[in-house]
Amino acid sequence: MERIDKILSNLGHGTRKEVKGLLKKGQVEIDGVIASDSATKVDPEKAVIKLNGEKINYRKFIYLVMNKPAGVVSATVDRNDETVIDLIDHDYQAFNPFPIGRLDKDTVGILLITNDGELNHKLIAPKNHVNKVYYAEINKFVDAGNVDTFKKGVVIDDGYKCMPAKLEVIKADENGSEVMVTIQEGKFHQVKRMFESIGKNVVFLQRVSFGPLKLDENLLEGQCRELSKQEIDLLKDV
Ligand code: URA
Repeated sequence: MERIDKILSNLGHGTRKEVKGLLKKGQVEIDGVIASDSATKVDPEKAVIKLNGEKINYRKFIYLVMNKPAGVVSATVDRNDETVIDLIDHDYQAFNPFPIGRLDKDTVGILLITNDGELNHKLIAPKNHVNKVYYAEINKFVDAGNVDTFKKGVVIDDGYKCMPAKLEVIKADENGSEVMVTIQEGKFHQVKRMFESIGKNVVFLQRVSFGPLKLDENLLEGQCRELSKQEIDLLKDV
């Protein structure tokens, strides 16, 4: 059981004080009865709560997928930069969501955002081998030897030997290359550091899939949408 003012406030219907006002004015109904006391306790999973006659969509967790644009950081707060959380609706911000893993400020593509800590842990644990696929543009010729090196596990600048990664060359010439890279870890700047260790630079990086989910082509950069029940189940099954 939870206090009605807390429930409504957590769902983004105003501050505790504002919600108290709604209750006082008789705008909130619990199972058909007007509730005016903000300390009323209720089981939000079972009760039918209405605000101004409209049923509240109660949920504990939210699951969003964003097409992250360049120029924003994958954090909840930042002193200097706009964050991915700044880009989402206030209604969602009320759930205190955070990004699952990180993409660099200049990286674009699929980013999951949730307040489900358990799912977050599961998806970022290297032992769960969740595939992350990136499309990357590289400043130099990527050759078959590089593919082999990635397969064996590249040693990056701090001496860490990466888990085997799949590198596929889409096109390559002296001016640069386009590749797809699949990794299962998420070390800081991992893809960029993997290429640096073979003397090449990533000039553009886009994450095209995360585990079972692909980047939604209908989302413009900076947009997000809620995951479907089916998509959430797929993630919980990894
Ligand atoms: N690897 C990187 O180098 N940057 C990212 O944003 C993601 C993976």
